[in-house]
Formats: sequence, structure tokens, C-alpha cells
Amino acid sequence: MSENIKFNKVSPFCCFGGKETECFESIPILVRNYADIRSHIEDAKVNGKKEWYESSQEAIWSGPYRHHLLKRKEYVQHILKNYAAKNTINSLLDLGCGDGANFKWLKNYAENLYGSDYNIARLVRAKNRNIAKEVVLADVTDYAANEGAFDVIFFNHVLEHIPDDTKALSEVHRVLKKGGICILGIPNEGAFWWQLAYKLQPNSLKTTDHVHFYTIKSISEKIKAAGFTIKEIKRLGWGIPHWDLDSRLRGYKILDDLFEFFGKIFIPNQASSLYFIIEK
Ligand SMILES: C[S@@+](CC[C@H](N)C(=O)[O-])C[C@H]1O[C@@H](n2cnc3c(N)ncnc32)[C@H](O)[C@@H]1O
Repeated sequence: MSENIKFNKVSPFCCFGGKETECFESIPILVRNYADIRSHIEDAKVNGKKEWYESSQEAIWSGPYRHHLLKRKEYVQHILKNYAAKNTINSLLDLGCGDGANFKWLKNYAENLYGSDYNIARLVRAKNRNIAKEVVLADVTDYAANEGAFDVIFFNHVLEHIPDDTKALSEVHRVLKKGGICILGIPNEGAFWWQLAYKLQPNSLKTTDHVHFYTIKSISEKIKAAGFTIKEIKRLGWGIPHWDLDSRLRGYKILDDLFEFFGKIFIPNQASSLYFIIEK
């Protein structure tokens, strides 16, 4: 079911080795070895992580963390709005866009919105939204775009899944334009509070697809080593250090708001989510 097309020359993306680009359902496959990526995803699915690769990412917006997700979205919108007030955002890349669940609001901040991911099942859903200018299959650690191709990169809850996160960050740095920003969202799972949650429910470690458990300190070092300047760090979302209990309680807006209010005051470094605004 693959086809070959010539790649659009005005696109910020490029293909490797000057070959004609292979496509699946009109989605360009911009990786050196697609068979490796497919088998990585298939292996993960048989190893009990099927959910991570198949389940709808739209559903989380009506799930127990919906109030928290809204807070994250409002924060990212605020950053984009402020940046767009002083700079033209011609190209905004949703890197690791998954199902493209964030496209509908991201598109308001840029002339051209692009999305990429390495999971074709998710990209087909993202493409079918007909919102992004281009949706391509690409690997963050060997990224098919030229230096400085994007004004802003939204890199939301992807890095913690990537074994070679150092390479991923250096690729983000390479494809971001000078003076551009990357909005990096990650879970704060290396923090004492969330490590405690994993200790109380060790089985959750078997089903998570996360391979990194960052703290503010550990990720800050990696960001700086990749050549970025950290402009802002935002802590968001506090809860109970027990995954089941936490998701049940935070389904109530009043509790999510109360945890946020008191968490910020008493345990600021134990937030569940972190956003780093990083500049090249
Ligand atoms: C938790 S989802 C986040 C999706 C989206 N950014 C969001 O905020 O809803 C993580 C995504 O990262 C993608 N991903 C993980 N490793 C990747 C890699 N090396 N290259 C490209 N995409 C990757 C996965 O396929 C998945 O869609």
C-alpha cells in the first residue's frame, strides 16, 4: 500500500539520500529505515504497551486528567500568544504530534502548522483532521528537516519516551531557527512525590512507555548541553502520589484546583508536569 511521490520542494522537511519519497496514505515517510521503526513499535505492542501506540489520544481530553490538561493548554496558549505578539510565526512544528489532538488550537498561532510522529497509525488520524499544512513520518532522533527550518517547536510529552534523548534535543536545536523557541512539556516523574507513586504501585512501571524520569535539575542539564537557553520553567499540576487515587481525585475540578493552589505553595518542586521554554 505504499506509493512514491516527489517531495514538495517548499516544505521545511527533506528526504534522505535524494531518493524519491515513499508515502503511506499520502503521508511522506521521511526516515532512513522504516522497517526498524515499524518493528520497534510492533515489539513494544507485544510487550504489553499496546495502549501507548494505539489508543485514542483524543479520549484523554474527557478523561480524569481533563482539568489538568486544560491548565497545560492555557499555559502553552499564553506562551504562543506572547511570542506571536513580538515575532512572526511562519512555521510551527508539533513534534511527536501523535493523533494531532492539539492541532485545532495550535493552528491559531502560526501561518503554517506542521506535524510529525513516527507512528503511522497516529499520523493517519492527525492527517485526517485536515488542519496541518503537512503531516510526515519522521524520527525525532534523526530528523528529516534542514537547519533552522522551524520558528517554533511544540514538543509535548514526547522526550520522556525517547531512549536517546540527548540526540533528540540536539536535533530539535538543529532544526529550530536562531532566536526561535521550543515549548518542551515533560512529566516531573523523577521528583520524590512521583517516584513514591511508582513505589506504591510498582506494576505501573511495567506498563509505562516512559524511559526517562526527569527532575528539574536533570532535564535542565540536558537542555543546556544541547545548546539552548532556558527562558522559563513552569510547574503545573499537583496530586496524590498514588496513580489510581490521583486519577480518581483529580477528575473533580474542585480537587484539581485545590491541589494546584496548595501544591504550588507547599511542595512546588513536586508538580506533576513541567514546561520549559527554551531558546536557540
Ligand atoms: C504521549 S504521546 C504525545 C502526543 C502529543 N504530543 C500530545 O501532546 O498529545 C508521545 C508521542 O511521541 C511519539 N514518539 C515517541 N518517540 C518518537 C520518535 N523517536 N520520533 C517521533 N515520534 C516519537 C509517539 O509516537 C507518540 O505519538
